[in-house]
Amino acid sequence: MAASEPSRETAERLINEAAERRRREAPSGFDEAAWRAHSFGVARLAERIASRAGLDAEKAFVSGLLHDIGKRWNETQENVFHSLSGYHYMAAFGFKGVARICLTHSFPLLHSAENLLPNPDALVNEARGVIETFGEYDDFDRLIQLCDWLNDCGTDCSVEYRAASIIRRYPEIPARKTLILADTVSDLKKRFDALCGEDVCKICGIPCRSVGDARQSQDANLFRARVS
Ligand SMILES: [Fe+2]
Repeated sequence: MAASEPSRETAERLINEAAERRRREAPSGFDEAAWRAHSFGVARLAERIASRAGLDAEKAFVSGLLHDIGKRWNETQENVFHSLSGYHYMAAFGFKGVARICLTHSFPLLHSAENLLPNPDALVNEARGVIETFGEYDDFDRLIQLCDWLNDCGTDCSVEYRAASIIRRYPEIPARKTLILADTVSDLKKRFDALCGEDVCKICGIPCRSVGDARQSQDANLFRARVS
């Protein structure tokens, strides 16, 4: 990895510092254990898939670990969008690659006609505006977008399980919007299945060989129950 990106040790230090700051300044709504487990879960998945797909596994781990560093701030209380706050925080250290991931991980579908996220339109539009200056997504953007959906609060899972969990945890977001994102991420998964030459769920030990198989599984029952 380029010296302009954080090492694994620096990334872990930033995670600890972010948790400390959030606990101290704006603890409401912060499930630190789930945030840490998700951050490390995404990092490990990204590292594993990257090494199979011929991408830089170290960069993948660090990008996965820091993608939600913007949760150092409380989105509601401090009127921020974690993707933007993470972007500015990482950019201030000169960590341009990780800063970019902080933004792009929330937008598997950049050009949606409507805001698909629970955050205010103004902040979401500001984030989209910055992403448009980056040009096309690359495979690191896509990898972390995918891995963010393959881990729910620290548990590795299928895309459908993750969608069901988001629908349950964010009742203010219409399920229809989450399903649009889930379909986009399912297409991303197919891209990485092809790049790896094997189903990424199998590579990562996730008990779901494909979205099609998941339709027969308990994940899918949960999914259907939440959207019906
Ligand atoms: Fe995440």
